[in-house]
Amino acid sequence: MYESFDQTSSSVEVKAGGQVASATVDCRRSGLRARNVGKIENDAAAEFQKQETIREGVEAYWIRAPDCSCQTSFSPADEISGERMVLWKRDPAIALHPEDIKKHFTSKLAVLLVDGRDTAPAACAARWARKENTLAVGAFDNLYSGLQFVLEHPDFIIFSKIFPERRTVECSLLLSLPMIHWQFTCRFTAATTLECLGVLCWDRTRFLLCCGFKVSAVDTTGAGDIFPGGLLYGLTQEWAIEQKLELSRAAAALNCAGFRARGNIAAFAKIEQLRRPASRSEAAFVHQELLEPVALAQKASGHSSARGAASNHDRRRSA
Ligand SMILES: Nc1ncnc2c1ncn2[C@@H]1O[C@H](COP(=O)(O)OP(=O)(O)O)[C@@H](O)[C@H]1O
Ligand SMILES: [Mg+2]
Repeated sequence: MYESFDQTSSSVEVKAGGQVASATVDCRRSGLRARNVGKIENDAAAEFQKQETIREGVEAYWIRAPDCSCQTSFSPADEISGERMVLWKRDPAIALHPEDIKKHFTSKLAVLLVDGRDTAPAACAARWARKENTLAVGAFDNLYSGLQFVLEHPDFIIFSKIFPERRTVECSLLLSLPMIHWQFTCRFTAATTLECLGVLCWDRTRFLLCCGFKVSAVDTTGAGDIFPGGLLYGLTQEWAIEQKLELSRAAAALNCAGFRARGNIAAFAKIEQLRRPASRSEAAFVHQELLEPVALAQKASGHSSARGAASNHDRRRSA
């Protein structure tokens, strides 16, 4: 239960957003061709989103939703920390269905990003991508029904900080992140974003902890959209994974220095300017902590169910 509060707001603005839509804008601004597939009604909010997509030069396939309102969210950001909360309004009729998407929507792509909101079409698109050797990325902020069918397809998955615990009921991120790998016998690299502390990545054999970039954050609303956008760009480059994650974190941090979801989406050259001199956050975990789950994973790889290995460990469960 929230305590009731009564506060004034210094400003209110209507802006375009959406996780995949903003990530495509990020890619476009860095010079890639980008395409967005979405379902919208013909109301004023939908028209605004369409116009912003055109203005940004992102190609789009819009599927028309019958008699419902466009998805909107209200996202107040704290004036001191820039941290935000999001209140959604989503008409169930706006849900995307597998029959809405066509193969040519996802053909001839270098990379594909799916979110977890409408899991059946996301799984379908990621499956098609895989057949065409397109790299697929999944970005999941919450447990939506049918998500297990999407998790088996992407090459790279980005989870919100809370997702691994919600999925596994394991409160230690260092155990829950590998557990998701084990549960789904997935081939993907899994990363959990850690807000201003950066990202923790698990590639089946080791953790990669990448600290966040220090910026004067005024609004963190779009961080979780621009991080995948930066990763998509990185995946189109022949870089080491560390470099791809470096760009994603720098792009997301820069965006936090502007207001609203797309407050400061920078082109690749500008991100590079921040990246080189910028100082980094403290580390979310000490090096030693990252080694124990690796030993568990090695042990587990000799068993059919590595989850069992995890349960032999002294796992702390959340309340
Ligand atoms: N205050 C911040 N300062 C710098 N970087 C940030 C900040 N907040 C988020 N980021 C960057 O954006 C990424 C995604 O942010 P996060 O808050 O974890 O996602 P979400 O808000 O969608 O849960 C982080 O991994 C980090 O690199
Ligand atoms: Mg955040």
